[in-house]
Amino acid sequence: MRVGVLTGGGDCPGLNAVIRAVTLALVQHDPAVQIVGVERGFLGLIEGHVRPVLPEQVRDLLDEGGTLLGTHNRANPFNHQGRDVSAEALAVARRERLDCLVAIGGDGTLTLAARFAELGLPVVGVPKTIDNDIAGNERSFGFDSAVAVVADALNRLKTTAASHHRVMVVETMGRDAGWIALEGGLAGGADAIVIPERPFQLAPLAALLQARVAAQGHALVCVAEGAGLGDGAQLWQQLPDGVARLGGIGNALVQALGGRWPDVEVRATVLGHLQRGGAPTAFDRVLATRFGVASARAVVAGQFGITVALQGDRCVQVPLSAVAGQNRRVPPDHELLRCAQALGCLPE
Ligand code: F6P
Repeated sequence: MRVGVLTGGGDCPGLNAVIRAVTLALVQHDPAVQIVGVERGFLGLIEGHVRPVLPEQVRDLLDEGGTLLGTHNRANPFNHQGRDVSAEALAVARRERLDCLVAIGGDGTLTLAARFAELGLPVVGVPKTIDNDIAGNERSFGFDSAVAVVADALNRLKTTAASHHRVMVVETMGRDAGWIALEGGLAGGADAIVIPERPFQLAPLAALLQARVAAQGHALVCVAEGAGLGDGAQLWQQLPDGVARLGGIGNALVQALGGRWPDVEVRATVLGHLQRGGAPTAFDRVLATRFGVASARAVVAGQFGITVALQGDRCVQVPLSAVAGQNRRVPPDHELLRCAQALGCLPE
């Protein structure tokens, strides 16, 4: 059997741990299995860039950040430079004699995987994203590592905020979901947490910070990149290549809040890709390993058109069709939100 493996979308701590687990589990089951690495996500399937992945290449990858196979967050065989090249991509899969494909990625990759499954390619999905926003899956690997970065950043900024009597704003990733800012903010002891799921007004945020500044002389804000100021409209940044990316709310808060308190400056730190780089936490190593093993089991059992997922503490299978095009956001009654509210961290 020849099993294709690709990693698509933004990189994320734990991708290599999945590649390792799926490879080792399949070869352990049947030493004759061949793993075929597809390079740079679906771009490799479009361009025919593949290479063998051997057990000895992956055995030491458990704690390596990034992805051995490379990735791409815009490659789309159904719209590649304005053309549908999915038939060519399927021809590459046939040429490489792939019996199936394990697609490790976020909502974009899993949506493409669902479309290929409809076209008859046997696919198993593995959910990855630091944003933790994949439908049908309660925890994606990479999220815990990103939360650890946010918590560490808040801890570091607390000491400098206290030393200088400043309000420090930390902007996190997360796209339309506030999971990273919410959990990272709680883990790092933020005084205020702002997420896209709860549109906020400036006056209540300023009042909350005013109270913290009065009591302790400084304050920490943890804001998700997808949060909108006032009317809820998100802020976008135009990159030189024409792509728009969410971002800018941290500095917008600096502009909006600055000058309110004599001698208390407001400053922003945008964590950006620091949240995606580096080694996975122990939790993410284990989750990525579970997902890799679960996807290998699905391959062996011939269960395709599904993604593995975590529900409760169980690894389950969810149809790719139920995940495609979906997004999992923080529900209004989520326990972590209620925690943040109980601590007075949510601007009302
Ligand atoms: O999906 C993960 C994510 O990290 C988002 O939180 C963020 O908006 C986006 O990727 C940024 O991607 P890029 O690497 O293209 O800037």
